[in-house]
Amino acid sequence: MGFSWEDEGLSDLIGTFREAFPEGSPDLISRAPGRVNLIGEHTDYNGLPVFPMALRKEIRIILSPRKDALIRAVNQEGEFGLREFTISGDIPAHPAGDWANYLQAPCQALARQFGGLSGFDALVSSTLPVASGLSSSSALVIAMGQALLRVNELTLPTLDFAEAMAAAERYTGTQGGGMDQAISAGAVEGHASRIEFAPLRMFETPVPEDWRFVVAHTLVRAEKSGMAQEGYNARTRECREALEIVADAALAQGQAPEGTDSYPLLLERVCIQDLVELGEAYLEGTLLKRFRHVVTEGSRVYDAEHAMARGDRSTFGLLVNASHRSLQEDYEVSSPELDALVELALGAGASGARLTGAGFGGCIVALAGPDSLDRVMSALENGYYRPRGVLGALDGVLFVAEASGGATVSELQAGL
Ligand code: GLA
Repeated sequence: MGFSWEDEGLSDLIGTFREAFPEGSPDLISRAPGRVNLIGEHTDYNGLPVFPMALRKEIRIILSPRKDALIRAVNQEGEFGLREFTISGDIPAHPAGDWANYLQAPCQALARQFGGLSGFDALVSSTLPVASGLSSSSALVIAMGQALLRVNELTLPTLDFAEAMAAAERYTGTQGGGMDQAISAGAVEGHASRIEFAPLRMFETPVPEDWRFVVAHTLVRAEKSGMAQEGYNARTRECREALEIVADAALAQGQAPEGTDSYPLLLERVCIQDLVELGEAYLEGTLLKRFRHVVTEGSRVYDAEHAMARGDRSTFGLLVNASHRSLQEDYEVSSPELDALVELALGAGASGARLTGAGFGGCIVALAGPDSLDRVMSALENGYYRPRGVLGALDGVLFVAEASGGATVSELQAGL
């Protein structure tokens, strides 16, 4: 199958590929979308569901298979230089933050799984804003991983592949959950997916025709590898600690049986009000806040999924707003810029708005209807971007998300 949409820019990419690798022939294109998470933030690594959709913005890798085990990769973005490495089950990592780590992570994991893999020459490009909280790094891992499988004529079922890539990405130093890789690999066009973990499962809901999810970037980078990584990893530890204390308390109080040792089991066995009360009785300070966010956010995902299924935009919006407040006050991952964007969107009539992704910068997502979309877009433009001196077209930082399908590899049409 040839490359079917958004071909514009492709011949430039092929030109760049040919300059970088004059001896190779650009045969394949591997594409993996970024995502916007609609609700269920910082729940995945706690085993609780998330509800994202894939974007029509993606990582694209144009590649030419090689006979040896070498990967050579250049990036269309000047800030990322040429990287070269040999595929093996033990690839030395670069310092945290180096983009090569996202290339090496899937290669090391698949080499461990399959052994003896051949490599390729690659030109990497992105239509996703980098470090925006829209998952460009996981999209890169997925695009690389599926390219490597294809070049070696291997296949994996989508969910197995997504799980393997989520584990693989921990090579880069972030203790992430599995949301980003799952939605990038397994999204269904026109749908949002509730993703459940351990084992990984995906359940699709069609996005109502007249719902518009507006994505707006704070212009503050949400580096997965920088300071945000520390904040993120600290929260994964805090959540584990809180879980142990509440699980013991639930057992001691006779509210849950022996073996209730995960967030999903707690939520299944103790109703949400009792769970919050238990947390308030046995936890304090930071641990209490983290716990309260995780369990309330987990239960909001199911309510939001049902609201979407019945086209109930105002309920969905209220849940989105509650999610933002909880991320702001209890999970402490919002920022003045994220809050400002949320306020502007709500002030212009959005049904709901929240930060999306890990936070600490990055983007918000706002839900608008046909009646409020234009107002929301202009409020964000005139209230946020223009006063900050952003000139010209805003499509890179402010756009309406279209729910796209998952990652694919295809042959490049001859003659492009
Ligand atoms: C990052 C991680 C995801 C998820 C979100 C927060 O995007 O990669 O796994 O934990 O943060 O919801």
